[in-house]
Amino acid sequence: MEVVIAPAQELAVLAADAVEGVLGSRGEPVLGLATGSSPLAVYDELVRRHVEEGLSFGRAWGFMLDEYVGLSADHPQRYRNVIATEIADRVGWPAERVAGPDGAATDLPAACAAYERSIAAAGGVDLQILGIGTDGHIGFNEPGSSLASRTRIKTLTQQTRVDNARFFDDEVDQVPTHCLTQGLGTIMEARHLVLLATGRHKAQAIHQLVEGPVSALWPATVMQWHPHATVLVDEAAASRLQLAGYYRQTYASKPSWQGL
Ligand code: GLP
Repeated sequence: MEVVIAPAQELAVLAADAVEGVLGSRGEPVLGLATGSSPLAVYDELVRRHVEEGLSFGRAWGFMLDEYVGLSADHPQRYRNVIATEIADRVGWPAERVAGPDGAATDLPAACAAYERSIAAAGGVDLQILGIGTDGHIGFNEPGSSLASRTRIKTLTQQTRVDNARFFDDEVDQVPTHCLTQGLGTIMEARHLVLLATGRHKAQAIHQLVEGPVSALWPATVMQWHPHATVLVDEAAASRLQLAGYYRQTYASKPSWQGL
């Protein structure tokens, strides 16, 4: 696992470089998309490259991590709409090439199974962008999630609903109680995981992710088993890392031509 500690804007550029590398790597590259605040600076940087440098998403496929259950099709916090607003529409990504689990389906287990099939049919995810919840979730894999789980229905913790209330006019009761999420086993099949976290409120989750024992109590710790996982954190999110000095030294001595 590579840990990079740098100011937030630098982290966004590094992640965008990795995405740009994937976009140019094969005919129909596959990107895994995350919602939340953490990837927004990356999306802004990708939009800038699209506008100023012609970076194209036209042949890429996008697969979202998760989706709330029960939000109406036009709800602004439906993750499908969030991804359209934050990146897809801004880079001219054809809507039919960006998919998410269908949180409005009448048969939710069937929708989850169909989503797994569509990711596999696209050849799997080349690069998965991730954020992390304060309780250590990735996607919406809350504590207690099976480390081998597949796309399925999950119940949100109260902590996550409180954390996400800021997107629902600070009304926690407006935050849905359930979601569909790629499982930890699904996420682990992506060929490269790039997780971003900023702020002191993420420091405990980052410490556990990088240095804690692998445990369903901190679901992101499963990433310790991934052969190509990158953790991009600012000083505040890195503030509880025991081996921060070693991570800094390792990254500082990395050849400049080598990407993430
Ligand atoms: C949500 C999303 C996650 C995201 C997490 C952290 O619950 N389902 O994919 O990583 O929140 O969000 P933020 O980046 O806003 O802190």
